[in-house]
Amino acid sequence: MRVLGIETSCDETGVAVYDTDRGLLAHALYTQVALHAEYGGVVPELASRDHVRKLLPLVREALAGAGLAPADLDGVAYTAGPGLVGALMVGAAAGRALAWALDLPAVGVHHMEGHLLAPLLEDPTLKPPFVALLVSGGHTQLVEVAGIGEYRLLGETLDDAAGEAFDKTAKLMGLAYPGGPELARLAETGRPGAFTFSRPMTDRPGLDFSFSGLKTQVLLAWQASDQTPETRADIARGFEDAVVETLAIKCQRALEQTGARTLVVAGGVGANVRLRARLQALAEKRRGRVCFPRPAFCTDNGAMIAFAGALRLQAGQHETPAVTVTPRWDM
Ligand code: KG4
Ligand code: ZN
Repeated sequence: MRVLGIETSCDETGVAVYDTDRGLLAHALYTQVALHAEYGGVVPELASRDHVRKLLPLVREALAGAGLAPADLDGVAYTAGPGLVGALMVGAAAGRALAWALDLPAVGVHHMEGHLLAPLLEDPTLKPPFVALLVSGGHTQLVEVAGIGEYRLLGETLDDAAGEAFDKTAKLMGLAYPGGPELARLAETGRPGAFTFSRPMTDRPGLDFSFSGLKTQVLLAWQASDQTPETRADIARGFEDAVVETLAIKCQRALEQTGARTLVVAGGVGANVRLRARLQALAEKRRGRVCFPRPAFCTDNGAMIAFAGALRLQAGQHETPAVTVTPRWDM
């Protein structure tokens, strides 16, 4: 089964073709980062318009990359939520229209299920049960995965998501949007231990997170400092270490609580080098396993939607022709 996947939930237009026999055939991505940079964040209306502009050229690019004609497809998957409603509507309308015109089944995919399943796209030997750490700009969740579609939420953030905390912290130290990856790059040159911030909610039982207080701690440290580039790097390192350590402590707890041996990490913050190294060390210590998608498939992309959609279509799930999206949607 060859499935076209479309992702337009936020500021990335992603399209991919996944073949259930041959794996990922092609993927194409356009990022709107430059468009939103001057506003310091994603402007929903501009995002929708840019998806409209880029989506069909990317569909053509992905099909050409896969060496396929539209008639060679067996299904269409698109992100149906959660995300920005206008942006979602672009992918949903285009996906449904393509499916209708080609007489194919279409399926709306949960964006976070796409992230959650992305590591399986990279490694066909990886199978549930496992614990998933989902760390993106909008979500921070620990999920027990018993099977495809069998998800139990173990814990989540009570305020900012981990990626959001990276972005906001970067902004308050004057880094350009999108600050998360830039802050992580800066942290590489910072001295460990020069600044120490708390590991929120690790001193009490449970698997929930809270990252908004860290941002305030960083703001106070930054305002009281000499604000040199070296100090900024040191603070970035202190902040990153606090987030990474907090996530690692909760992952360890989730593995102990569920008895799972495998940890899967997905979402944009999963691209963070220090988080990857720390969770790798945790897995080795527990003689378990940790799996990450390649960094490009940690952040938003069409491949994860094509893959999750293919699994759903293979299981016989598809929808009536109405176009609907769900901007707020629990998994
Ligand atoms: O999954 P994603 O592309 O979009 C959402 O679904 O939110 O995640 C984007 C988030 C942003 O907050 C970004 O700052 C963060 O992932 N991010 C990183 C890194 N790369 C992306 N955070 C820390 N370190 C990175 N290397
Ligand atoms: Zn995402």
